Amino acid sequence: MSSLTNKHILLGVTGGIAAYKSAELVRRLQDQGASVRVVMTPAAQEFITPLTLQALSGNPVHTTLLDPEAEMGMGHIELARWADLLLVAPASADFMARLAQGLGNDLLTTLCLATAAPICLAPAMNQGMWHSPATQENLQTLRSRGITLFGPAAGAQACGDVGPGRMLEPGELADLTAQQFSSGLLAGKKVVITAGPTREPIDPVRYISNHSSGKMGYAIAQAAVEAGARVTLISGPTRLPAPDDCRRIDVETAEEMLAASLAELEGCDLFIASAAVADFRPAQLAGQKIKKGSSDTMTLELVKNPDIVSTVASHAQRPAVVVGFAAETQDVVRYARDKLQRKNLDLVIANDVSRADIGFNSDDNAVTLVWRDREESLAQRSKAQLARDLIQHFTQTP
Ligand code: PMT
Repeated sequence: MSSLTNKHILLGVTGGIAAYKSAELVRRLQDQGASVRVVMTPAAQEFITPLTLQALSGNPVHTTLLDPEAEMGMGHIELARWADLLLVAPASADFMARLAQGLGNDLLTTLCLATAAPICLAPAMNQGMWHSPATQENLQTLRSRGITLFGPAAGAQACGDVGPGRMLEPGELADLTAQQFSSGLLAGKKVVITAGPTREPIDPVRYISNHSSGKMGYAIAQAAVEAGARVTLISGPTRLPAPDDCRRIDVETAEEMLAASLAELEGCDLFIASAAVADFRPAQLAGQKIKKGSSDTMTLELVKNPDIVSTVASHAQRPAVVVGFAAETQDVVRYARDKLQRKNLDLVIANDVSRADIGFNSDDNAVTLVWRDREESLAQRSKAQLARDLIQHFTQTP
């Protein structure tokens, strides 16, 4: 069953009598596990108060674009990035017209322009307004831009007319929203993902590791599950819960990660190496805690760890598609292309880990995809959204 666990839903409410149903919609989205933030247009506030939606969503309701206080908290660009999906319910004829024209004359239209997340509209209006050529043309424009329409339903309307233009019921809208995250793109495929850091022990209390939080790899695992894949997540130590419906194998060292990866190769279609594997490990593991002693220096001998992704890529059971990441601080694409060739990969996802707002331990990432014959950059977005976008690219690789 599809669900909205861990999903950030930005709910836009525009002016129409159906706005009273938005209160119930917040609850139905939360029932499926979503975090909900609400944005209201001025017209929406004539029908329902921000206080109601604030109390139900548990978050401040956003109403104006030019509010210095709100911008100091979660400003409109952060809000646009926060969203995994932007649902406008009800979407009035006026709002759809402004969206079709690309206007950014209030907070909600501005968010629609700024977000990289999918946008879904639940139209609600009088049947005559729905049938009008202007609304129908706007609909076509919005659809051609990839915006999804939920409804409207037909039936008796608040104004006494009968016909199409009624907003779908909150439960139906919550189900349709959840379905947006189930693409089926990887249906029937087995996907193995490495994620997080490795820990290379020095002695019983110390180890060598890095700043990987696992967020990128876990987001890919979640997106792959939603795309219908059977997912094995081979994870170094992280604080993250495993996505539902995914098999998680916990490991600590690079050698353990390699062994787990090789054991999972049978029937694997797609292998994704997002883990930040320590390139070296201490040559000796001290049986007891190493004492400080009197010397001011200490020398630790390191030996090279096995390269997991290149071992997988040259294995007799090589999956059809092997994807690596490249964490770089300079010449990101050049080094990524070098890794693509040296490690015999089908795709390398290069990220700049010198920036604090993307890469290691951040909620966002921005990457360049490097194939043998082409490159494509994906601008900064949440790791959850990026993971869903990457799934599409995996299905078109090599
Ligand atoms: O976990 P997060 O906090 O969300 O951060 C995400 C991330 C920055 C860790 C991730 O996006 C990322 O870049 N992962 C790869 C980090 C890395 O180790 O890059 P690398 O350039 O050193 O390695 C290149 C590739 O070889 C990677 O696919 C890596 O998994 C793989 N590798 C490296 C060494 C090794 N011994 N075995 C490997 O399989």
